[in-house]
Amino acid sequence: MRVSSLLLRDFRVHRAVDLALPGHLLLVGPNGVGKTSMLEGLHVVAVGRSFRRVPDEQLVRHGASLMEAVGDVVWNATPHRVECRVADTGKRVLVDGRALTRLGELVESTAVVTTTSEDILLVEGSPAHARRWLDLFACQKERGLLSVLVRYAQVLRQRNSLLARWRDDGGTGVRDDLEPWTAQLFDLGKEIEERRTHLVRAVESLVPEIYEKVSGCRTAVRLAYQPGIRGDSIEGLRGMLRREVARGHSLWGPHRAGLEVTLGGMPAKAFASRGEKRSVAFALKIAQARLMREPPLCLVDDLALELDARRSGEVVRHFMEAGQVVASSARRESGWPDALAVMDIGR
Ligand SMILES: Nc1ncnc2c1ncn2[C@@H]1O[C@H](COP(=O)(O)OP(=O)(O)O)[C@@H](O)[C@H]1O
Ligand SMILES: [Mg+2]
Repeated sequence: MRVSSLLLRDFRVHRAVDLALPGHLLLVGPNGVGKTSMLEGLHVVAVGRSFRRVPDEQLVRHGASLMEAVGDVVWNATPHRVECRVADTGKRVLVDGRALTRLGELVESTAVVTTTSEDILLVEGSPAHARRWLDLFACQKERGLLSVLVRYAQVLRQRNSLLARWRDDGGTGVRDDLEPWTAQLFDLGKEIEERRTHLVRAVESLVPEIYEKVSGCRTAVRLAYQPGIRGDSIEGLRGMLRREVARGHSLWGPHRAGLEVTLGGMPAKAFASRGEKRSVAFALKIAQARLMREPPLCLVDDLALELDARRSGEVVRHFMEAGQVVASSARRESGWPDALAVMDIGR
């Protein structure tokens, strides 16, 4: 996927941006000039929403009533125009002039990999970060998973509300109404776990080599997916029912899974330095970029943050090999590839 132009109107800090993207681009400028916002604008034209998990209204510039993000985007070897508008009346996304009824359509069609300073949370944060990353990655890679995830979330809500009701009733009696939800949670959950396990294996096969190139160290990197459903049968999970009723929510399923990264045999979360964690996080994202259905748009925010010039140079080179890069940084380091055109903003 490639983006060749971006137009922003009243998008966060930007009144008007008209950007041509000939190839790889580095946005350089001091804090607060709107580098992250520009990457966010590109993300909006790529998948119809921001990479920060914020309400759409926050994308509208303070004092304005409508924001627009319009991009010329090529995916699946076909040029498209994506237009996104957010106003008080709501949000509309058009692809080639046709209004999308389901935003997921865009997520399943395009290919974008985003890295931000938050990625360190894939290594050291709550497991929810890794789960979200894997699920979005899986949806971009394979059509159909998004609807499985949506259905899973619905079933989980239903099952949790029955468990909470059962707890509030004093946990007595037999509740047959739980059974169909348990069976669906198990089936949908297994499908999600399978896709995630498959992705983690694919990522793990690439990460050691990438990490070695990025860090210059031959430290072994391993990924261990800790599934939220252990075992192949639903029977083994029934033993948890008493505790589930006491807590009032489901204690098994992909929403309980985690991802552990080890570096040199030690848990990276506890032992690695911030620079090492950030390098591992970059290695995961570079692996993702290589595994996408087509060469993706790689949005790399704060490229140099917590990395020395050698490491950041390797990171951006790897992303450039995998797809089209638009990166941001407070400054350009010597040694970064010449093919990364520099655009100074805010000066
Ligand atoms: N909706 C908005 N309207 C106006 N300004 C905004 C809005 N959202 C964020 N900003 C401002 O944009 C600036 C941050 O832009 P950002 O893209 O994060 O900068 P950079 O990445 O260059 O440091 C901040 O000064 C912030 O207050
Ligand atoms: Mg920024």
